[in-house]
Amino acid sequence: MYKLAVFGNPIKHSLSPKIHTSFARQTGVRVEYAKILAPIDGFSQSAYDFINQGGNGFNITVPFKINAFNLATTHTINAQTAGAVNTIKVNGNELIGENTDGIGLVNDLTKNLGIDLHDKIVLILGAGGATRGILLPLLQQNPKRIMIANRTASKAVKLAKDFAKFGKTCGFGLEKIKDDPVDIIINATSASLGGETPDITSGVVNNAVCYDLMYGQQTPFMDWAKTNNASMVFNGLGMLVEQAAAAFEFWSEKQPDTQAVIKAIKALND
Ligand code: ATR
Repeated sequence: MYKLAVFGNPIKHSLSPKIHTSFARQTGVRVEYAKILAPIDGFSQSAYDFINQGGNGFNITVPFKINAFNLATTHTINAQTAGAVNTIKVNGNELIGENTDGIGLVNDLTKNLGIDLHDKIVLILGAGGATRGILLPLLQQNPKRIMIANRTASKAVKLAKDFAKFGKTCGFGLEKIKDDPVDIIINATSASLGGETPDITSGVVNNAVCYDLMYGQQTPFMDWAKTNNASMVFNGLGMLVEQAAAAFEFWSEKQPDTQAVIKAIKALND
């Protein structure tokens, strides 16, 4: 039996228990998966309590991914480059920190949506934690270039520099985006939370695939992309299920089938 959980604040609406319970059913792995609301200043204590009660592993969501990075005693390369941890495996006294967000996005794009990233020009909007978390797996797909554009230009420039050793990156302010075509636009800003769309020229969309990391709703960015001739528009629901699958595999070494679960979660959200 794997004793698992997800920590967050808020956590009530998390879909993770449903997703992992489906994976468990599919793969025949016995799993007990709880939602744990940790106090804003009490993540570590909550996590240690869970470990002391026999927890084998856990997911970590907003706002604790950096706390989880600090809690982990060893880090995978994804966690190291992301500077954040969304999955921990308990291995005796060792807490292995992993970050499956980027793998989740890449698997959704390439396997579920049939979008090959090789030699493509990718524009990422935003330069916060979400962007840092997806950059390495995206660069490992060998895109032609990843452009990072952010409201605060200096943060985009810094991220581009930090990841330059993994592939071709550049960073600049949102206002510098031109009408030159790109292949894929990823909205990794938190603008949708406030019902907003990043303020950029609409000409850049020009037949691009547009992907919002947010899930569960038609976001303002998705509406904006549709209106401005995106070739395809997606939200991050597939990424949510894929990052969960990568975590499930990290714990149990069993690879679940994500398609059926994506369909079921979509139906739940519609
Ligand atoms: P996360 O962990 O979700 O990435 P974050 O680290 O706080 O959260 O980063 C939020 C990102 O969304 C930032 O890139 C932020 O831009 P700034 O660095 O200029 O603050 C971006 N963002 C938030 N609201 C935005 C808006 N209305 N328009 C454009 N960008 C926005």
